[in-house]
Amino acid sequence: MKLTLFVVLCLAIIFGEGSTAATFGEVKQINAGDLNVGYVEAGPANGPAVILMHGFPYDIHSYEDVTPLLAAKGYRVVVPYFRGHGTTTFRSKHTPRTSEQSAFALDIIALMDALKIEKAVLGGFDWGSRTGDIIAALWPERVKALVSVSGYLITNLVGNLQPLPPHAEWAWWYQYYFATQRGELGLTNPQYRHDLGDVIWKFNSPTWNYSAETYNQTAAAFTNEDYVAIVIGNYRWRQSLVKTIPRFAALEKKLAAAPTIGVPTITIDPALDPFTAAGNGSAYRAKFTGKYEHRVVQVGHNLPQEAPEAFAQAVIDVDQF
Ligand SMILES: *[C@@H]1O[C@H](CO)[C@@H](O)[C@H](O)[C@H]1NC(C)=O
Ligand SMILES: *[C@@H]1O[C@H](CO)[C@@H](O)[C@H](O)[C@H]1NC(C)=O
Ligand SMILES: *[C@@H]1O[C@H](CO)[C@@H](O)[C@H](O)[C@H]1NC(C)=O
Repeated sequence: MKLTLFVVLCLAIIFGEGSTAATFGEVKQINAGDLNVGYVEAGPANGPAVILMHGFPYDIHSYEDVTPLLAAKGYRVVVPYFRGHGTTTFRSKHTPRTSEQSAFALDIIALMDALKIEKAVLGGFDWGSRTGDIIAALWPERVKALVSVSGYLITNLVGNLQPLPPHAEWAWWYQYYFATQRGELGLTNPQYRHDLGDVIWKFNSPTWNYSAETYNQTAAAFTNEDYVAIVIGNYRWRQSLVKTIPRFAALEKKLAAAPTIGVPTITIDPALDPFTAAGNGSAYRAKFTGKYEHRVVQVGHNLPQEAPEAFAQAVIDVDQF
């Protein structure tokens, strides 16, 4: 009894209360393509693979509660940090730190190759939905099924040149901030970088009462040395303020045609997400040509962390389609 208490106290001291290491497993590293990828892995090594991808400004902890639910169902769950986040680093200082949408997809394909995952169920929100959508569209042979929060998010650079109604533009304030030198300096400032994510979290998730510990656990991933380059680069690229580098040009040309997605898919709209006009998914229904279902969940933008059971259930269900 006393020994047990002692061990628990030691663990609490070593890992901190309710922290990653205690609940989410160790972060592993593997060389994959341009990157040395940091990722968490759970569940049986020979189980069917599920890869869960985070958004901005978030990290792998969006899946902290989803992961054990899927691992308990026998899935091999892999949750990687994207380029510029957490312990994921570039292997060469010569690799351009660019953020075309196809770069993220190639990073995940390289990770699948490195982990010898032929085919996986992909799940994501925000940047993670976009990446899953791209892989499902261009490499369907690698995707068993897809869970895509907010539907079809493949970026249309030409479409992005057109303005939205003012209220929708207002929600995107940071995209315009990042387009300026002032925004780049703001994101470079460690205190402002930390605080910016918290401002966006509160706006994105109006009913999610997360703690400062929960936010800080994720914000640690924003101290990555490439974070500013990757975030600024991504939002400027979407605005056509920086060009696609030649290496990604052919893939971006395919994506500019807004390819359809034929793998089994569940789309989920977070009803309280200020970025999603939650509804019946009719706006993007035609982009999904395979077995398909649409769901709505009454939470904000960070759906897997706000409604982990609903997200995990979608992964389990789409795998049965
Ligand atoms: C949010 O959580 C904190 C700490 O758990 C609690 O004190 C507070 O009352 C909660 N606020 C709301 C609006 O639920
Ligand atoms: C969260 O991080 C900020 C900035 O580093 C710090 O000031 C604050 O005390 C932290 N809060 C908790 C609860 O860890
Ligand atoms: C879906 O929602 C849109 C916009 O509210 C509406 O125009 C359309 O009729 C709806 N479609 C279905 C199938 O319910």
